[in-house]
Amino acid sequence: MSILDLSGRGALVVGGGQGMGRATALLLAQAGANVVILDADLERAEKVASEIEALGRKSGAIAADVTRSDAVESAVAAAEQASGGLDIVVNIVGGASWAPLLSVDDETWERDFAVNLRHHLYVGRSAARNWIDHDRPGALCVVASVSGMFSSARHGAYGAAKAGLLSFVRTAAEEWWPHGIRVNAVVPGAVRTPRMEAEWAAGTTPRPADILLDRLADPEDIGGAISFLVSDLAKKVTGQSIIVDGGWTTRFPYALT
Ligand SMILES: NC(=O)c1ccc[n+]([C@@H]2O[C@H](COP(=O)([O-])OP(=O)(O)OC[C@H]3O[C@@H](n4cnc5c(N)ncnc54)[C@H](O)[C@@H]3O)[C@@H](O)[C@H]2O)c1
Repeated sequence: MSILDLSGRGALVVGGGQGMGRATALLLAQAGANVVILDADLERAEKVASEIEALGRKSGAIAADVTRSDAVESAVAAAEQASGGLDIVVNIVGGASWAPLLSVDDETWERDFAVNLRHHLYVGRSAARNWIDHDRPGALCVVASVSGMFSSARHGAYGAAKAGLLSFVRTAAEEWWPHGIRVNAVVPGAVRTPRMEAEWAAGTTPRPADILLDRLADPEDIGGAISFLVSDLAKKVTGQSIIVDGGWTTRFPYALT
């Protein structure tokens, strides 16, 4: 038996239709969990759900836009049923816009907060209420970004929202610990996901510089850290943010010149 055994656990991966959400869902299923996929794109969610079922686990696909709190409430209730009882919730939904603070428009500023911060309250609160109602411990893990820990020139709206998410993680961890609920974040550098590959190719996101290329992570690298954090191996880890960036941000900047 693997030491990272999730046999019989119920998991929900929010934004699990592609990229690091899909990679995480498959890793959790390989560790034994029954994994339900929630995504705004039902077709993507159904495809990943079939991959999970092919591994011999229970799954299900739920379509919802997590930026709407009422949609999240019913989606978490549906995931509780479809998974046979939730123990784990992972929320990876997010995305960056690119504009300097001097010229970012109000709409972009609002959208980055909606897509990267607000729904974490909706998902986290619904999951926590569900666990408290069922008198069951739970593990919540979210995906932030190094842009929320350091300056993030030309995508300050995204960075500010992700910084807010890291604060949310610490407060939720503190408030929900008495209920047996742990809350942590994984903080990626740059990750080779289908969305990023498409954005780099289209030029809508700056292509990583040569110094970054050997630091790029694969979606599974993020999924690995998430799998640890939601497992019993991390049962005393809460309120934490683990950077997964190949050590990119640990370097003294002078060393990069
Ligand atoms: N890719 C990177 O280089 C990188 C780096 C740092 C942080 N991140 C963060 O990692 C996370 C995942 O990135 P990714 O590249 O795998 O993302 P992605 O866009 O490829 O996947 C996200 C999934 O979420 C779904 N989704 C988007 N909006 C939704 C909504 N409102 N409701 C429900 N589902 C929705 C999409 O349909 C998609 O299937 C994001 O939070 C992102 O900010 C990414």
